[in-house]
Parts: sequence; C-alpha cells; structure tokens
Amino acid sequence: MTDSWWKKSVVYQIYPRSFADSDGDGMGDLRGIIDHLDHLAELGADVLWLSPVYPSPQDDNGYDISDYQDIEPLFGDLATFDELLAGAHERGMKIIMDLVVNHSSDEHPWFLESRSSTDNPKRDWYWWRPARPGMQPGTPGAEPTNWGSVFGGSAWQFDEKTGEYYLHLFSAKQPDLNWENPEVRQAVYAMMRWWLDRGVDGFRMDVINMISKDVSLPDGRLNAGSAYADGSAAFIGGPRLHEFLQEMHREVFEGRDGLLTVGEMPGVTVDEAILHTDPDRREVDMVFQFDHVWVDRGPDPWRLVPLQLTQLKAILGRWQAGLAEAGWNSLYWNNHDQPRVVSRYGDDSPAHRAASAKMLGTVLHLHRGTPYVYQGEELGMTNYPFGGIDEFRDIEALGQYRQAVELEGRTPEEVLTVLRARGRDNARTPMQWDDSPNGGFSTGTPWLPVNPNHREINAHAQRADPDSVFHYYRRLIELRKTEPAVAGGDFTMLLPDDERLYAFTRRLGGTELLVIGNFSGVEAHAAIDGWDGAELLLTNLDEPRTHLTLAPWQAVVYRRAV
Ligand code: GLC
Repeated sequence: MTDSWWKKSVVYQIYPRSFADSDGDGMGDLRGIIDHLDHLAELGADVLWLSPVYPSPQDDNGYDISDYQDIEPLFGDLATFDELLAGAHERGMKIIMDLVVNHSSDEHPWFLESRSSTDNPKRDWYWWRPARPGMQPGTPGAEPTNWGSVFGGSAWQFDEKTGEYYLHLFSAKQPDLNWENPEVRQAVYAMMRWWLDRGVDGFRMDVINMISKDVSLPDGRLNAGSAYADGSAAFIGGPRLHEFLQEMHREVFEGRDGLLTVGEMPGVTVDEAILHTDPDRREVDMVFQFDHVWVDRGPDPWRLVPLQLTQLKAILGRWQAGLAEAGWNSLYWNNHDQPRVVSRYGDDSPAHRAASAKMLGTVLHLHRGTPYVYQGEELGMTNYPFGGIDEFRDIEALGQYRQAVELEGRTPEEVLTVLRARGRDNARTPMQWDDSPNGGFSTGTPWLPVNPNHREINAHAQRADPDSVFHYYRRLIELRKTEPAVAGGDFTMLLPDDERLYAFTRRLGGTELLVIGNFSGVEAHAAIDGWDGAELLLTNLDEPRTHLTLAPWQAVVYRRAV
C-alpha cells in the first residue's frame, strides 16, 4: 500500500452544471465534458471527480439525489455517461463519482415511502421524531432539538401528514438517512457496487463524517446572537463512523483494485484522520479536512478575517506532520463550496493575478499529499463581482442571508460583504473557455452569469500562451511524474514565524527540494542556508536576481543532492 497509485496522481474536479453546455440550455452536461476531455488530458489530470450527475430536483445543485442509479436528464443519460467513462479511460484518466448518502432528496422514493405513514417499512430509514414534550407540534420551538441547519433555519421539518418532524442537516429537501438501520446501509452498498461494476474508479464521499449520529440527539450549544444551536457535537465523527466506513470497505471495496476513495469531513481532527486513512484500518484513502479553509473565519460568521499566513502554515504543517507515518493527505484550495483561491489568499488584480495563482498552485502541489484542482483553477479564475442578494443562486447563501437578516438583525450590507468574498457561487460561475460572449460555455443563457473577465481569462488564450497559468499548472503536474520527491518525499516546514514567506523542504533519499512562496505584494528574502548553487526546477517569474530574494507573489522550487 505504500506505493498506492493515487499518491502520484492529481485529481481534477468537474462541477458539471458549470463546465460546458453542449445543447444550449444554459446548463453544463455530460456531452460538454466529453467535448473537453482533451483539455484535461493535456493538463495532465489523472482522475476526474464529477460532482453529482444523478437525477435530482436540484435544490442543492444535485447534492439532493432522487435516484442514485441514473443520470439527471439535464446532464444526459447512462449511455452518454458510459461514453464519458470510456473517453476518460482511453486517455488514461479515471473517474470518481460523488457519493451523497448522508441524505437523499425528499423526492427519492425511499423518502416518499418513509413519509407516507408511521408504520411504513421505510419509516426508520430517516430520522423521524415527535415534537418536544409538552409542546404543540409544528409551533416555533417545538422542534425535537434546537439544531440549526447548515443552510439556515431549523434542522427539523414538521410533516403535517404524520405529525412528526424529520431531520435535515442541510435543506428541508435533503432529509438525513438513518445509518443505524442496516437496510439503509445495504441499499447504499449495493448502489455503490453497481457503479463500480459499471467501471467507475471510486468515490468522493459527501459529508461522510456526519452519517453516524448520537441517537439520543442532544440539544446543541447556542451561540450568542444566533437563532439556532450548533448540534455538530452529536453528528460530526459520531460513535459508529469508523464501524460504518469499515463495513462499507468490506462490502464494497474489498477485492477491487485501482480505486480511489476520499471522504469529505468538515471538522475532522488530525487524530481522527489518521484513523480514517491508515491503510491497515481499511476505511478511506484520504479525507478532505477544512482547517486551512476556515483559517480566515472568525468567531463572528459575518465579519471577514484576513488571512494570517503563520496560522495557515501552522495548520497545514500540523496536517503534514500528523499524517507523515500513517495515512495520507488530500491537498486543495478550491472546490465548488469555496471562493476562488486567487481572490482569497492571492491577489486577483491584473498586476498579480497570474503570478499569485501560480504561486498558490506551487505551494499546494509541493506539499505531501494528493492535489485536487477545481475547474478553472488551472486558469487562475477569480471570484465574481456579485452585487445584491438577487444575483446569488446558492441555497446556502440565500438561506444564511435570510436567517442573518430576518432573524438575527444583521444588515444586508454586512452579510453581502461576506457572501461576495466567501459565497459558494464564486466557484460556480461557468468555466471560461474563450472570449466569446458566454465564454464558450453555452450558446444559450447560462444558469449563472459568466465572469466578465473571461475576455482576458480563458482556456483558449492560455493554451496558446506558454507563460499562462494553464501551462504552469501543466508543468507543476508533470513535475510530480518526473521528480519522485514531489509525491514521496518527507516534509519539513521552515520559517514558521514569517508572515510573508511560505517555505518548506521535501526530501527523498539523496534528493532534497526547497519550496518557497511569497504570499505578499512586496519583495521578501528567505534566510535559509545551504542552497547556493542549487538547481532551480521551477519558478513563476524570472529567476530571482539575488539568491532567495523573492519578488511579490513569486514561487521557487530548488533541488539539490544531499
Ligand atoms: C457537501 C457538498 C456541498 C453540499 C453539502 C450537502 O459539503 O460539498 O456542496 O451542499 O455537502 O450535500
């Protein structure tokens, strides 16, 4: 297992709605992905992760699934899916699916049955509870617990028909499945085997550390000023999580080779991640942790906190050290839930956008772990210039806005300031293929507007320019294939107290790499000895004129023999 193929791989995430629209309905689709497979192969992606493509009411853009074994008609059909899979495989790329089984859609037949009566055989497939003792069902405060949902409002929905509530940690159209029920687990495993038999190469598991709940469902802690409590102590890394993941491994993955599994785990600790990813324990290959994307989040959710580089280094350094012996890290700046990293931790002004995008890519990809590239990151795509709340489409942004402004007395402007900087729709504006009116994404009206900067930032222009972010990412990915220390080397953080420079070494056998990224708009010198005359493997700007003095947003990778 020490030589697992995915340690040398780079994963590219596709958000199908926003990738490429082949039929002019304004919504990306599978045919659009097929049309652009060469872009991904040229970049050097080894694995494609598809955000959900299953039939769905699209309440949360497909993370609300109403049929786990088919394709959403907006995106295509199973025959087109098979064609996509074959096209990827022909180019040496694997495909992993998004597995969303903490919850289903409320329109899934399982839930329709469950909701139909208290004695339906599937009643117990979801979390149904009566009103709080002594309270009138359906009235404010009668919810079974005080938990808030991630998307705003209570985590409980009252259902007139049977007079009980069901739990939904996300939207009311995403009822939580009850993993305590063995029939639920077997149904999920059977579905997973069906996709693997079809040829898919693994799964990215949505909020998988929330599937095991403390069945006593205790009330959560109520923070000052918030309308609902944080119940996460009862469902993040719950009592049976390891057991469920090991059972899933036995039932689904045992005896199958060449697969990749990655569990999305908000709030996971390093110690838990070691247990989840230690290959001997047979749970998952790697997890997505969130500490490094929560670093610019303060105690008050509606105040922006600027990035403090020393904190970011402390966090990622802790994850590197923690998973050095057993387990493995995933590495990401971006995905469909995060703002664009060049706008967040870099500088998206025209003068520094390309340099800072390349610097961020360098620092990430040179850590020990498997890097994930989110569509458009390889072009240095930026946040969108959102105006008012009516320009947002994301259920999270809309729900949180409503709760903050209507229930918690926040001003629209303070909430909008944070949503513009951090909102998920920043990641979801269409992929920028060329400089034509809709950026080459669609001939129709895109479901979310294309960023006006597609005239300068687009794949067509960047593929023709050897100095582009695209070609830099391509070289970065190539370096993983040609220099074994990138995938296999150990990791040592340097300069932990420097607020501008992110510096570390990687060492494998007789080779050592020095990586430095300047996270600032001013020149900065790295006081690191012993690298005179080392070979410069990669830089995003001209070679530093003075040894280890980096220009604004510069990144360098040196190699020496030791
Ligand atoms: C995960 C997904 C996110 C989704 C949520 C509920 O965090 O990445 O997009 O809204 O789970 O499924």
